[in-house]
Amino acid sequence: MNPIRVGLLGLGTAGGGTYDILLRNREEIARRAGREIHVVAAAVRNLAKARAKVGDAIRLGTDPQAVVDASDVDIVVELMGGIEPARALILSAIAQGKHVVTANKALLALHGNEIFAAAQARGVMVAFEAAVAGGIPIIKALREGLTANRIQWIAGIINGTSNFILTRMREAGASFADALAEAQRLGYAEADPTFDIEGIDAAHKLTIMAAIAFGVPMHFDQAYTEGISRLTADDIRYAEQFGYRIKLLGICRRVSDGFELRVHPTLIPEQQLIANVHGVMNAVLVRGDAVGSTLYYGAGAGAEPTGSSVVADLVDVTRMQTADPDHRVPHLAFQANRLSDLPVLAISAVHTSYYLRLRAYDRPGVLADITRILADQGISIEAMLQREPAQGEDQVDVIILTHRTVEAGMDRAITAIESLASMVGPVVRIRMEALAS
Ligand code: NDP
Ligand code: HSE
Repeated sequence: MNPIRVGLLGLGTAGGGTYDILLRNREEIARRAGREIHVVAAAVRNLAKARAKVGDAIRLGTDPQAVVDASDVDIVVELMGGIEPARALILSAIAQGKHVVTANKALLALHGNEIFAAAQARGVMVAFEAAVAGGIPIIKALREGLTANRIQWIAGIINGTSNFILTRMREAGASFADALAEAQRLGYAEADPTFDIEGIDAAHKLTIMAAIAFGVPMHFDQAYTEGISRLTADDIRYAEQFGYRIKLLGICRRVSDGFELRVHPTLIPEQQLIANVHGVMNAVLVRGDAVGSTLYYGAGAGAEPTGSSVVADLVDVTRMQTADPDHRVPHLAFQANRLSDLPVLAISAVHTSYYLRLRAYDRPGVLADITRILADQGISIEAMLQREPAQGEDQVDVIILTHRTVEAGMDRAITAIESLASMVGPVVRIRMEALAS
C-alpha cells in the first residue's frame, strides 16, 4: 500500500519530536498502521533552523497554506500553536476533505465547537491526543476505554510547566523566575508562559476533557481560572506542616445542578498518589461510576512525549480513514447530535474545603473575632495554627483549615475578616480537595 503523506505545520518542540519519532520508529509504526507514514512537507518561519534539522529530506517552506493545499498531503498536522492562522488553516484542511491532527488545546478550547462541527459535516477526523497532558493517552482513555461509565469527576495535574516550577521551588529552593526560565529552556512552556503560570493552559485542557467526559460543548469562557503566580514558599511550607501538598489542579465534577469547571492551586493530602507527581510529569485522576477511580501518569510536555501522542493520532487516522464516518469514534466521545446542555456552575456555588492564611496583630481577642465570623457563615474549622511572632515583631501568621463549605459563604467571611482592625493585608485562600471517592 502507498505511504500516507503528512504535512507538518510547525517543526518546533512538538513538530520536531513528531518528526524524529516517525523517522526512528518508521518500520514499527508501519507495522501497526498498515502503511508507512511519511512527512512530505513542513512549514516554519525560520527556514535555516528547520533545514539544519531535516536537511533535504522533506519540502520546506514558510507558507503553511501551501502545505495544506498541497496535492501530495493527505493529513495536515498543526503544531504551530496560537489561534490564527492555525484556525483558518485547520478549517481550510477540513474543507478540502483532509484529516487533521493537532496539539493546539488553546484553539480547541476556544473554537473546538466550530472546528468539530465543520469536521463532522465534511466527514473528516480531527485528532487531538497531544492537546491534553502531553504523552498521556488520556483522550483515548476517556473517549474509548471508559466509555461504559458515567464520569463523575476528573482532577488532574495538566500543566507540566507549573508543576515543574512548584517542584523546583519546593525541592531545590529555586526562585519562581529561575524555575520558569528553566521550563522555557526545556521547551515545556507555551509561547506566552502566562498561559502556564496563570492556569489558562490547564483550563484549555480541562475544557476539552470536560466536553469528552460529560458530552457537553466546549465552555472555556465559563471556566474558573487561577494560577500559581501568587503562591508563596510560606504557603507551600505551612501546607506541608498539615500533611498536604499544593498542586495546580484542573477539576471538573458533575453535581446535581450542572458541573464544576475550575483550575486553581489546591491542597491535596500528601498520601494521595497525585500529590507525589513531580516535575514536568502530569497525572489525571478519573472517577467513573462503574470502574471507580483510575489514574493516568506520564510526561505532560516536551518534544517526544508530545510527539508520541501526535504519532498515535496519525496511526489512528491512517487506520480509520477508509471507515465510514458514521462508524468512527465521535470526536468528542458522544454523538454530535446528542450533546447535553448541562450548565457550568459559577465558582461561588462550588463546595470545597479551604486553607486560609491571615496576618494579624498579636492582640487578645483576634482569634475569637475570626472564629465568630466563620461560625456566622456556618463554616466549621478543621485545624488551626498560630505562629509565634518573630523576635521584636507584633504580627503573627494564623493558618486555618476549614471543612467543606460553599464558596459564596467563604467570600463573605473573608470580606468580614479583612475588615477587622487587627488584620494586616489580604487573606490568602487556597482550596483543598480530599479526592476521595
Ligand atoms: P514551538 O514554538 O516550539 O514551535 C512552533 C513551530 O511552528 C515552529 O517551527 C515555528 O517556526 C512554527 N510556526 C509558528 N508560527 C508559524 C507561522 N505563522 N508560519 C509558519 N510556521 C510557524 O511550539 P511548540 O512545539 O512548543 O508548540 C506547538 C503546539 O503544540 C502549541 O499548540 C502547543 O500548545 C502544543 N503543545 C506543546 C507541547 C510542548 O511540550 N511544547 C506539549 C503539548 C502541546 P519557527 O521555529 O521557524 O519560528
Ligand atoms: N505548556 C504546556 C505544559 C505544554 O507545560 O503543560 C504541554 O501541553
